[in-house]
Order: sequence, then C-alpha cells, then structure tokens
Amino acid sequence: MLNIVLFGPPGAGKGTQSTKVIEKYNLIHLSTGDILRAELAAKTELGIEAKKYMDAGELVPDEVVIGMISSKIDENKDSKGFVFDGFPRTQKQALALDRLLKSKNTAISMMLSLEVEHNELIKRLLNRGKDSGRADDRNSEVIEKRIKVYNSETTPVIEYYDYQNKYKSIAGMGTIDEIFNNLCVAIES
Ligand code: AP5
Ligand code: MG
Repeated sequence: MLNIVLFGPPGAGKGTQSTKVIEKYNLIHLSTGDILRAELAAKTELGIEAKKYMDAGELVPDEVVIGMISSKIDENKDSKGFVFDGFPRTQKQALALDRLLKSKNTAISMMLSLEVEHNELIKRLLNRGKDSGRADDRNSEVIEKRIKVYNSETTPVIEYYDYQNKYKSIAGMGTIDEIFNNLCVAIES
C-alpha cells in the first residue's frame, strides 16, 4: 500500500493537493477536517461537540479524531492506500495511526510536509473565507490562532516521522500544478 501523510499548516494546500494525488495514484482521501465538517452539517452529537473547538481554531480531542480515522480505514479495507490530510496533528495521533496501520499489516510510506510562507497562508485563507462558509476562515484572529496551534501542537509530528526517516519537506509556494509536480517527484523517488 501507498500511505501518505500530507502535512502542513492551515492553508498550505493539503486539501487541494490531496484531490490530485488520490486521482493520480488511485488512493483514498481521509481528511479529518472534512469528516468533522460533514458531522457538523449532519448535526450529529460528535459534530456539535467538535464545532466549539473548530470555531475557536483549537484541536478537537485526540480520542475523537482517532476513533473517526479508525472506522474510515476499516471501511476501505481493499484500497491501494490512503492520503491522510490534517491527521495526525499530535504525536499521540501519529502513534495511534502507526498502531492502526500495523494491525492491518501496513504502515505510513512517507510524510510530505508543504512549506508555505506565513503571509501567503493568511492571504489564501482570507480569500477562501469570502465564500467557503467555514467559520474558521472568517476572521484573521481565528486564522492566526490556527497557525499558532499548528506551530505549537502539530509541528512535533515532524520529528516523529523524521525519526523514522519518512519526513520529506516540499516547496509549497507557486502554482497548484508546480506544487503537485514537487509532490509527485517526492512520491516517486
Ligand atoms: P482542517 O480542515 O484540516 O483545516 P486546516 O488544517 O486549518 O487547513 P485547511 O483545510 O484550511 O487548509 P489546507 O492545507 O487543506 O489548504 P487548502 O487546499 O484548503 O481542520 C479544521 C479544524 O478541524 C481544525 O482547526 C481542528 O479544530 C479540527 N481538526 C481537523 N483535524 C484534526 C485533527 N487531526 N485533530 C484535532 N483536530 C482536528 O487551500 C487553502 C486555500 O488556498 C483554498 O482556497 C485553495 O483554493 C487555495 N490554494 C491552494 N493552493 C494554492 C496555491 N498554490 N496558490 C494559491 N492558492 C492556493
Ligand atoms: Mg483542508
């Protein structure tokens, strides 16, 4: 299996690039942010509980997202692999993911981390906020909070994969196609 963690700060292009990667390599896209927003739209208990954290730009508790990912992996047993987008976001989630994949006799192949300048992140997210309907894109305070949480709580995940020799830094500035090309080179090398 080809199992990729597509990593990077809010607005780095994880969702945009995941769509292209899954199409080219025939993989399943698992985005915890998308799953949580779907739960919210369906007004499930999980969605309503998660909304508090999401609107504030904070992380939803590890147990909640780990449980979600576990059932999605089970639902797609026969796939060629997964692109994990927005997960893992803590070392605890990374450890849980390794355990889950091990129980399916597979593992993470690589972690691709999109590097994008701070000002570009803000620009992309405020621009999307005009029509995305995402409450967490609407004001720069929440956007800054999400980036802060990424820097403090999520960047330690890089060390986790670097230790396993799976971390690759990817230039995430430029056009969508240029960045996609950078990802394909890394995937195939
Ligand atoms: P999540 O949905 O994962 O949001 P995020 O990490 O903040 O990132 P985004 O989805 O905003 O950005 P992206 O990197 O996908 O970029 P995109 O391609 O959209 O998480 C939301 C919340 O859910 C979290 O804050 C947390 O509360 C909760 N959550 C989710 N997962 C969790 C977990 N594992 N643990 C705990 N809590 C969790 O691009 C952004 C914009 O830029 C788009 O408009 C796009 O069109 C544009 N764009 C993309 N590429 C380019 C380019 N090259 N040039 C110009 N514009 C571009
Ligand atoms: Mg996204």
